[in-house]
Amino acid sequence: MSRASALVAAGSLLLVPLLFHGCEQPEVTPAAEAPSLTPVLSVKELMEHIVDPTADWIFDAAVVDVSEKGTVETLPLTDEDWTRVERGALILAESANLLKMPRAMVPPGDKSLSQEPGGPELTPAEIEARVRKDPALWAKHADGLREAAIDSLKIIKARDAQGLFDVGDKIDKACESCHLEYWYPGDKKAVLEDQKKRVTFDKLKK
Ligand code: HEC
Repeated sequence: MSRASALVAAGSLLLVPLLFHGCEQPEVTPAAEAPSLTPVLSVKELMEHIVDPTADWIFDAAVVDVSEKGTVETLPLTDEDWTRVERGALILAESANLLKMPRAMVPPGDKSLSQEPGGPELTPAEIEARVRKDPALWAKHADGLREAAIDSLKIIKARDAQGLFDVGDKIDKACESCHLEYWYPGDKKAVLEDQKKRVTFDKLKK
């Protein structure tokens, strides 16, 4: 065998298994196996470090401070102010997906939430049991947060500073409705009455 034909022969030996391999397994698609997710934070930490501080970027952007000296309105003015509000809305919207990922309610050994079953505030174990019993309801509340955050983007893109008050109210209600279902269902009546009062105050202001 010449050197050249030896190389061709070696080449075809390599090619045959490659072609065979290529024809035999066309149905295997890399997307078939989704990568596994590894939650890092508990729900409590997600609230404390991501959801709550981010929501403040929106809530604190439009504030009416009523005092004896008069009424002072704080509204976003610069592009930088608006970018911060927009980022807040985007992070909150995506956080809805983080909330839907199964994760612990509190970090191991955390004692900051109620430890007494049957109180107005549920214990982490009681909250977890509620979520497990009806995961679709938990997901619905997470979706409520996403929808409120996405709705607010229209107002933000239009630079509608007055509209931010309503946006904040809508997001706040999405937070509250989940908390009332899972965290402090015993306080439902008092919280709803407080919400009504806040609406009356807004009307007075206008
Ligand atoms: C899908 C349900 C859900 C939504 C939506 C939600 N939360 Fe929560 N949040 C919880 C639960 C449950 C707890 C109490 C248990 C815990 O902390 O794990 C909690 C606790 C908290 C806490 C207390 C954390 C701590 O340090 O103990 C804060 C603050 C908070 N949420 C803020 C918010 C804000 C602000 C929003 C809206 C922008 C929001 N949450 C939306 C479920 C939700």
